[in-house]
Amino acid sequence: MAGFIGNKGLYSSWFVVAESEDVDPGPHAVRLLGEDLVLWRTTDGSLSVVLDRCPHREAPLSIGEVSDGRLTCAYHGWIFGDGGRCEGVPSSGANAAIPPTAHLAPMQVEERYGLVWVCPSEPSGQIPVIAHEDEASFRRINSGIDVWKVSATRMVDNFLDISHFPYVHTGTFGGAQPPDVPKLELEQLDADFFGYAYEVDAANPEAASTASGSTEDVVHRHMSTGFHLPFTVRSTVAYEDGLEHIILLCSTPVDDVTSLFTFVIWRNDDHDVDPEETIAFDRAIGAEDKLMLEQLPGVLPFSRTGVVNVQSDKPSVEWRRQFVELLGVDA
Ligand code: FES
Ligand SMILES: [Fe+2]
Repeated sequence: MAGFIGNKGLYSSWFVVAESEDVDPGPHAVRLLGEDLVLWRTTDGSLSVVLDRCPHREAPLSIGEVSDGRLTCAYHGWIFGDGGRCEGVPSSGANAAIPPTAHLAPMQVEERYGLVWVCPSEPSGQIPVIAHEDEASFRRINSGIDVWKVSATRMVDNFLDISHFPYVHTGTFGGAQPPDVPKLELEQLDADFFGYAYEVDAANPEAASTASGSTEDVVHRHMSTGFHLPFTVRSTVAYEDGLEHIILLCSTPVDDVTSLFTFVIWRNDDHDVDPEETIAFDRAIGAEDKLMLEQLPGVLPFSRTGVVNVQSDKPSVEWRRQFVELLGVDA
């Protein structure tokens, strides 16, 4: 398929563009769906997001400065307050009227799970709910934002796929898994995620023992994997001893072939164990996927004949069907 970036069907979705701690107070520049945006915190701590282009002479606002919750353009000092309202044009003097066209249009922004989510237009749905966020026995661990030189379409395809485990993840958990994939039954996993449940024997090398909470060579996992349109995937892992590990995989199109990636973990483990040590194994797994995915060309083909699909690709084929429907294009 050709690029999807300009497709208005995506503008009503929520995308992760940063971690909350990245905007302190800003300006913080991000690129989403081919558009440059700038984020900053206003005095009450809330976020403002606008196009990163001053209405005066189009200087990037992200090279300006934030002071007292207001963003000052680096070129002629115009001042922008909450939601991009222009509050000062120094060259016109203190009492001059502000031209109505000097105000910037704010985008929808929310902070959830330590992440900053932006919706470029009127949201058509909610940010997916992770119920463990509010359960005291679970803690959340954020991983930081990474840039992957691959289409977000390829990332979702990969995150829904288990048939690559014994090949791509040989250095981590994939070695114990037979290559044949059981028949996957797709279902609505809960209100926000559609996917499948499965069982797997995962290799449990020493590097995985903190994450799995076990020193056995192989651990049995009850798992589910599901997607929330357009590009969010959740995997849940439950070990036999009651340990649960939930991973939210967020892919954000910077453009058609470049993406932001971050993952968030929720675990009902010993909260005193170093978070970085706890997610080191997931980082290693992500690095294996990244290494493979960055070899793949362009956008994932969406036509039924664009790539060959087999039984184990069923979850990805269903995601593509729903994604193409969201875009409103012919596959
Ligand atoms: S370009 Fe921003 S104030 Fe002139
Ligand atoms: Fe993978």
